[in-house]
Amino acid sequence: MEFEPLVKKYDKPVPRYTSFPAMPHWRIEDFESKDWPKQVKAGFQATTEEGISLYIHLPYCESLCTYCGCNTRITVNHAVELPYIHGLLAEWKLYLKALGSKPVIREIHLGGGTPTFFSAENLEFLIRSILNTAGLHPDHAFSLEGHPGNTSYEHLQALYRVGFRRVSYGIQDFDLKVQKAINRIQTYDEVKRVTDWARKIGYESVNFDLIYGLPFQTEESIRKTVSHVAELMPDRIAYYSYAHVPWFKPGQRAYSEDDLPKGEAKRRLNALGRDELLKLGYKDIGMDHFALPGDALYLAMQSGQLHRNFMGYTEHNSSFMIGLGTSAISDLGIAYGQNVKTVENYIDLVDSGQLPVFKGHMMSAFEQDSRAMILNIICNRWMNKADVEALPEDRKLIFKEMISEGLIIGEWDDYKVSEKGIQFLRNICSVFDPNFGNQPSKKLFSQAV
Ligand SMILES: C[S@@+](CC[C@H](N)C(=O)[O-])C[C@H]1O[C@@H](n2cnc3c(N)ncnc32)[C@H](O)[C@@H]1O
Ligand code: SF4
Repeated sequence: MEFEPLVKKYDKPVPRYTSFPAMPHWRIEDFESKDWPKQVKAGFQATTEEGISLYIHLPYCESLCTYCGCNTRITVNHAVELPYIHGLLAEWKLYLKALGSKPVIREIHLGGGTPTFFSAENLEFLIRSILNTAGLHPDHAFSLEGHPGNTSYEHLQALYRVGFRRVSYGIQDFDLKVQKAINRIQTYDEVKRVTDWARKIGYESVNFDLIYGLPFQTEESIRKTVSHVAELMPDRIAYYSYAHVPWFKPGQRAYSEDDLPKGEAKRRLNALGRDELLKLGYKDIGMDHFALPGDALYLAMQSGQLHRNFMGYTEHNSSFMIGLGTSAISDLGIAYGQNVKTVENYIDLVDSGQLPVFKGHMMSAFEQDSRAMILNIICNRWMNKADVEALPEDRKLIFKEMISEGLIIGEWDDYKVSEKGIQFLRNICSVFDPNFGNQPSKKLFSQAV
């Protein structure tokens, strides 16, 4: 089947499957914040020598990029830095108490907002303070999201000193018209400078975030963006589908929906960017991601170790992740929890000795199985025949249709996602998502294409 009718059929709201169940399907009515420390202890005891992961949310940005879907707080007042860092350390202390014994840290990811809004000194202080209270896994992987506009040499040096070896820069698009529309102007020279610095200091992996589907993007602008990428050859690239969710992020109303490439036009931008990146020698990983063949993410995919969580794809299957900071999500393997979203609320709670988790979800055994299947599709593009046989009849029909459309290929004792199917990976996952189709309102998820 040609792409156009497939796009018409599958371009509907579908979760991005960074978690399963997706957040709108969490049973928040069954969740009690006061029980969270017990869940933390139980989840931690079930982990082995793999070590734990920490996601640290640093919400501040100096100005709002209107396309942004992240939880941010816009300010130019840097006096907010230290009170927030003290809040994070107070929260970490509460977790240490709940864990009951000293954890070994394997992964740290500084996300945001803009981690590089904070001074190099404050970030180093934060990480040293955490590491002083924990063991360090010999094979640790620490990464940060850096804004090319404000990442300094000092930031990269300070974080390198405390073990960071990966940096991810938000680029999105190099075209000035697109940059103006999303209120995010950054030059190629700025991006080159921060990339060169990271390499000079010794960072082992530099990632660029790019997005397709932004206002005014054309095939020509995507070619231009990829040609700049080719000059710098980052080790990894995330080529995200723009998530248009203006009911949730009103900043996205700053441009007209008429200026957004949609449906088949958007799919073409995806296909073009993907082809150009493959021509440059990148290998495609899971969904939306690319890596050079020597990069750890590619090697993890080759050896079946690839994992996906709220931080995106990682090469470690860490089943216990604590999220610190406003809006951060923790994944304890047996339960999810999300922190309160405003800085004021967050600081009040941690100062009064309470973990700031305000909503969450306890995983049933059935959900743990469904999650394993969905992870397998989104990481390895692979489905077990027995799992397909166990699907309800109506889902089996959808699955069979996907086979006849060429999105899935049957093999000896399993099924694989085809080249064509990669662009509909979220739709394929949704067949194995027992909640899919039961959403209370249509306006929850971004479009699949
Ligand atoms: C927290 S930001 C990156 C760090 C830093 N704040 C910056 O902007 O450079 C995380 C990434 O999420 C992605 N992102 C944000 N909003 C998005 C949206 N609406 N659709 C798709 N991706 C989005 C962007 O690629 C962005 O680089
Ligand atoms: S894209 Fe980055 S800098 Fe821009 S508002 Fe979002 S988090 Fe802040």
